[in-house]
Amino acid sequence: MAKPLQIEVYNPNGKYRVVSTKSMPGTRWINLLVEQDCRLEICTQKKTILSVEDIISLIGNKCDGVIGQLTEDWGETLFSALSRAGGKAFSNMAVGYNNVDVNAANKYGVAVGNTPGVLTETTAELAASLSLSAARRIVEADNFMRAGLYDGWLPHLFVGNLLKGQTVGVIGAGRIGSAYARMMVEGFKMNLIYYDLYQATRLEKFVTAYGQFLKANGEQPVTWKRASSMEEVLREADVISLHPILDKTTYHLINKERLAMMKKEAILVNCSRGPVIHEVALVEHLKANPMFRVGLDVFEDEPYMKPGLADMKNAIVVPHIASASKWTREGMATLAALNVLVCSIEENLMHNSICLSIFEANECFKRLKSCHTSHSKSFIRSTYREKLKDILFGLIQTVWNHSWTRNLDPLLPAQAS
Ligand code: DGY
Repeated sequence: MAKPLQIEVYNPNGKYRVVSTKSMPGTRWINLLVEQDCRLEICTQKKTILSVEDIISLIGNKCDGVIGQLTEDWGETLFSALSRAGGKAFSNMAVGYNNVDVNAANKYGVAVGNTPGVLTETTAELAASLSLSAARRIVEADNFMRAGLYDGWLPHLFVGNLLKGQTVGVIGAGRIGSAYARMMVEGFKMNLIYYDLYQATRLEKFVTAYGQFLKANGEQPVTWKRASSMEEVLREADVISLHPILDKTTYHLINKERLAMMKKEAILVNCSRGPVIHEVALVEHLKANPMFRVGLDVFEDEPYMKPGLADMKNAIVVPHIASASKWTREGMATLAALNVLVCSIEENLMHNSICLSIFEANECFKRLKSCHTSHSKSFIRSTYREKLKDILFGLIQTVWNHSWTRNLDPLLPAQAS
């Protein structure tokens, strides 16, 4: 028999049993679960990615909810095991949920949550950092210094691209894509071109107003354009950042043909999911076009890189750290705990004075559930986005963006000033 995985237990006599497959930053999420009478078991096994078998053993015979990670394969096998154990809720500690089979969750009556909102700015900031680092060749220059190669200022040394006045292209102008676009437009006075199935009205208004402000101050105004195709963005932009979800429509979205459409000196940034880029084609493109640069936070076969990528000086690679700020990671853990609490022991919360924000989150889910056309209990935003019309999408956006996330503030760790 396999050796049991190492776990840390909080509130051993708690009425509900919640499992977290990993230790997560902060203590707020732990306190929330314990305050609601959960026995919390955190897997502390020194193994980066848990297998399906590992997680089945953690779920055991009785489990009310699980907090899991984006590296885990949450499909039929795990949702049936969780349902057999009496589980009602699973939350990914991530906004992306390509590792979750929502249909399987629906089939077994398990609600699925993700952690949007708290990672918007943090992720956008990393995309902006990669854009700047690539434009100004910071990693190459840093390596050069450390190697002791600097022997004096030279006119040609590490000449890169000036962003001001260039065009930033955003593919997928949801929360993160829009936040990134604003940073690049406002911070570097870049013009914007974006492609999204939905109109990014607030973003457009922001760029218009900022352009007017610049003009009133005697500066060149910034502009925006909503592209009618993704190819238009690829052809026109100088810096392109990818922010789509990963599904079968976005798998290998950036392939050999589309790379060839981009400017020879363009910068491509990916903080979404690795398989959005055909990484073998990208390596070939980087070899053939030394002035083309990429900043990658995610990889097609994560944690591995395709052969040759690590040798490319025109590639900056970081290990999936876009959401890795302290405040955000603690916030993600808190949201994941709330998701599991709200959906697995919701009646208990209704009679408890725990806090306004959980109550409101609960109300929010009720509204969402009552709008849903099937018997599904999953509340992942994109499920709705696919199924419901614009008016409902607007409602969801408002609830998530304004009520839920903002009202969680008292629960989230204070942001350092
Ligand atoms: C997410 O939440 O999907 C991010 O990839 C985590 O960094």
